[in-house]
Amino acid sequence: MKLKINKTSGLNGSVKVPGDKSISHRSLMLGAMAEGKTRVTGFLPSADCLSTLNCLSSLGVEIKRLNPIELMIKGVGLKGFKEACDVLNVENSGTTMRILSGVLAGQNFFSVLSGDDSLRKRPMKRIIEPLRLMGADIWARGKGTRAPIAIMGRPLKGISYETPIPSAQVKSCILLAGLLADGKTCIKEKAKSRDHTERMLKFLGADIEVKNNEICIQGGSKLKGAEVRIPGDFSSASFLLVAALLAGDSEITIENVGVNPTRMGLLNILLDMGARVKLFNEKVLCGEPSAEICVKSSILKGVTIGGDIIPKIVDELPIFAVAATQAEGTTLVKDAKELRFKETDRIKAICSELKKMGADIEEFEDGFAVHGPNKLKGCVCSSFGDHRMAMALAVAGLFAEGTTIIEDSECIDISFPGFRDILSSLTKEAVV
Ligand code: S3P
Repeated sequence: MKLKINKTSGLNGSVKVPGDKSISHRSLMLGAMAEGKTRVTGFLPSADCLSTLNCLSSLGVEIKRLNPIELMIKGVGLKGFKEACDVLNVENSGTTMRILSGVLAGQNFFSVLSGDDSLRKRPMKRIIEPLRLMGADIWARGKGTRAPIAIMGRPLKGISYETPIPSAQVKSCILLAGLLADGKTCIKEKAKSRDHTERMLKFLGADIEVKNNEICIQGGSKLKGAEVRIPGDFSSASFLLVAALLAGDSEITIENVGVNPTRMGLLNILLDMGARVKLFNEKVLCGEPSAEICVKSSILKGVTIGGDIIPKIVDELPIFAVAATQAEGTTLVKDAKELRFKETDRIKAICSELKKMGADIEEFEDGFAVHGPNKLKGCVCSSFGDHRMAMALAVAGLFAEGTTIIEDSECIDISFPGFRDILSSLTKEAVV
């Protein structure tokens, strides 16, 4: 499917974005591991989260969909899952594969996990290594590096582990395996990655301690089902935010967006660049902060980013590159090699597609530099089947001359179903 975007004179209005993807995955997995029922509201019914839902159903968890964004999960307790009678297909969802592997390593049955072409190219050694240290019997293709993954569940033991790369998926995998293990499991991160798992574990009553970049969880600590209310996804909001900052004369409000500090890299960097963004009605629900985000057209200046902030902006780097094309001066992104291991190689993809649109962008092994501001022109772009690439290019199309066509745009449903309609409610003329 092709998405056609025309240059806009501006975005105006107030919108809500769908529920947070990371929190939706966790609500399903932790709700399943809890005792009693968990009611979830604000769930993201996107392809990735539905992969988690389908895998859990195959593992014997009863999940009722009350409506598209509300679920009732009947928890089976820590070790009450049942062996699936087929391969668990996570499709495009790295989060499902990595976190669920931790849960399955500590059950008492056999599981095989696989996914689509993109997923089967992504690195899995990062979870296999620590799970083996915990005593897991886990095997994978490519000398233990790529899916499919086979797991013969068995008793696990707690470990102390420092993750070589900051990754919330790896951290969450070890935390959930730690919940099933004997003794205590402690994880240290060099830089803090998103902490939704820690927050939800605490909210559901787990014995978990967080001190700066170190987390310890007590094996066997029980979870209690609860009502989980999920805020809108900041990563989805970020596309609208950058669009309103840079396309025409704009002023928009995005309601009820998650503003967890471990996800706020983009917002903080844009503020440093001169963005006119304000947060209102800040509150905390089920351990997660949320707010209303108001955005006005702005003039940005280039910055250099790298180091500890990268995990806090990791999913927003494609849209950040788009923003950088309109900033005055050079914007440099370093220490972001992880981008090469996402749904596609996002460094290569964003550089090639923005170059096609006329951007002055240089590719480095661990990032990129943009020398702005650049006048972009519409052209035919590839999403490489990557949802965040497709949406970032659509936003670039809002201020590029003429028409931008994004190929294979159906992948947007991986994280932001309804993107096209929401965008068109803010700027009818631009979405063809
Ligand atoms: C996610 C963690 C991030 C992020 C992904 C979702 C999660 O990956 O890129 O989209 O829900 O835990 P890493 O933490 O592995 O970099």
